[in-house]
Amino acid sequence: MKTPEPARAAAARLAHEAAAAAERAHAPYSRFRVGAVVRGGSGEIYRGANVENASFGLGTCAERVALASARVAGETTITDVAIACIDAAADAPLEARMPCGACRQWLQELAPDARIHIAGEARSFSVAELLPNPFTLRRR
Ligand code: THU
Repeated sequence: MKTPEPARAAAARLAHEAAAAAERAHAPYSRFRVGAVVRGGSGEIYRGANVENASFGLGTCAERVALASARVAGETTITDVAIACIDAAADAPLEARMPCGACRQWLQELAPDARIHIAGEARSFSVAELLPNPFTLRRR
């Protein structure tokens, strides 16, 4: 089904915001800046960027920064997430611009019904598409 034009325009605006958020990344080690924008059910948007550390394994991804920010602001429903990898080559394949596995698990927990928009990509994704058969904690 073709996405209606207003939804496409809104997604493009969010992707543009994600690219702006990426400018605030702290990525001196990878030199690969990523920005993410999360839209909560209230309509408010929350920004994130990757924040690296000299102890490499301690860095965090843009998506998780934005998701945590939305959550602690009180958002319990997330409608959209936009991600922009501003240092990816212009002709980089989609795999070079998609959320990592850890972020997919976070999306599953905090934004299971969100549409995921990747800057420069016409189509959007559901979380179920990105992470089929996710782990969820069930105690007996
Ligand atoms: N990165 C993200 O911010 N989001 C992703 O989904 C993939 C990777 C960051 C982590 C690291 O700072 C840099 O991109 C290179 O891996």
